[in-house]
Amino acid sequence: MRTPLIAGNWKMNTLPAEARVLVESLRERLPSPAAEVLVCPPFVSLATVAEALQGSAIAWGAQNLYWEESGAYTGEIAPAMLTALGCTYVILGHSERRQLFAETDADIARKVAAALAHGLTAIVCVGETETQYERGETEVHIRRQLRESLAGVTPAQAAKMVIAYEPIWAIGTGKSATAETAESVCALIRDELSVLFGAAVADGIRILYGGSVKPDNIAALLAKDNIDGALVGGASLKAADFAAIACGKEA
Ligand code: PGA
Repeated sequence: MRTPLIAGNWKMNTLPAEARVLVESLRERLPSPAAEVLVCPPFVSLATVAEALQGSAIAWGAQNLYWEESGAYTGEIAPAMLTALGCTYVILGHSERRQLFAETDADIARKVAAALAHGLTAIVCVGETETQYERGETEVHIRRQLRESLAGVTPAQAAKMVIAYEPIWAIGTGKSATAETAESVCALIRDELSVLFGAAVADGIRILYGGSVKPDNIAALLAKDNIDGALVGGASLKAADFAAIACGKEA
């Protein structure tokens, strides 16, 4: 059985004081959620969020990291800096990192290795553009992203990872993929994971859907065999909406 994971990606939103208000409200609304619940605030709010969530059922993580241990890498954040703040997860290879900050699959593979070496659970994002979707190139693209972003990962390490399928055309657009479309891509992701790591490992890996997830579409998504949770952007900034999504139902 795969426990559902509902992860909030706050992106570049919330000042530390706002982050505290948001997680305090979430903590009140989700005293003992059935799903595993995770929030990923900006780096500068991690310490505040860690303090506010101490002893709660909600985990916290980061939206990125750099693969080196320390040194002259101005502006970067090392994995040990995240674990020192109690982070257990890190989102890697989000399409905004790939598109706006030119991250390649090879970069992501190095980040995945660094995260794993520090015991962080990597949530590795894959997804096609609208043009690729329209041209029917989704499958080839996603399989290649998985192979290259997960290069060097062993089956034992893969067992502890999470994959997020986020069609770029559905992110922040209000245009969610239908549960059927999301399921068909999540099924092919599981198939590629079984090619890479074996069927037993692939069967245990959680695959999230992301892209305009809202309280009113979460139930249909979670009802699908290969969708094990959600990576939520916009709706994760509203406590009532995110709590409703974490409960798998409408607000
Ligand atoms: P969205 O973002 O829920 O606002 O579409 C999802 C994401 O980018 O992770």
